[in-house]
Amino acid sequence: MTVYFREQSSPIARQQVLSWLTRQVPDSRIQHILRVEQLAADLAQIHHLDPEQAAQAGLMHDLAKYFKPQQLLDIAHQEGWALDPVELANPHLLHANVSAVVARDEFGIEDQDILDAIADHTLGRPGMGSLSCVVFLADSLEPGRGDSPELHLLRQISHHSLEQAVWMTCDYTLQHLLAKRRPIHPRAVQTRNWFLQHASQQRANGVSDQVADAVPFT
Ligand SMILES: [Fe+2]
Ligand SMILES: [Fe+2]
Repeated sequence: MTVYFREQSSPIARQQVLSWLTRQVPDSRIQHILRVEQLAADLAQIHHLDPEQAAQAGLMHDLAKYFKPQQLLDIAHQEGWALDPVELANPHLLHANVSAVVARDEFGIEDQDILDAIADHTLGRPGMGSLSCVVFLADSLEPGRGDSPELHLLRQISHHSLEQAVWMTCDYTLQHLLAKRRPIHPRAVQTRNWFLQHASQQRANGVSDQVADAVPFT
């Protein structure tokens, strides 16, 4: 795979993160992380963003994936976050924000765009920046997620419009959560609504793409 980390200039060593992950998460999760790293870098290149920033965020997006619920709650408390009832009942939802804390404290990441992209990778955020969109999409659309017609279409759209791909990926995830009767965090809905509206405005302004018009499941 393409290695985007420049070992001499990067503030962190990629191998250092991988060594840490090897001690923290199973191999199947590391393989997912490596696919997210690669897809985030590829999407960044397509959309004229910094592939190295995207690769770093992708590599570190799931640092806290296997933290115990109490550990996630303790870190949230230390950080002074106001938790809502959904997070209190499902602390695993905090792993994205906590992964950003680990990236900052364990690996010295100071780049706010990278930290935001890590924190936003599960629920997104209304108005989140392009780097966050790229990592959010890479997490949901990496090849290991499957090869259904819906995923195939979302991957196509992610090459054309980040905004449209984010709201449609939100819809895809929300449909899955509803079918499984899993809790839905309000921020996931807010993210979906923001990007739906934003993508609609872009299309109204003529910034549309042909793929959008062929969407079969909206
Ligand atoms: Fe995650
Ligand atoms: Fe992930």
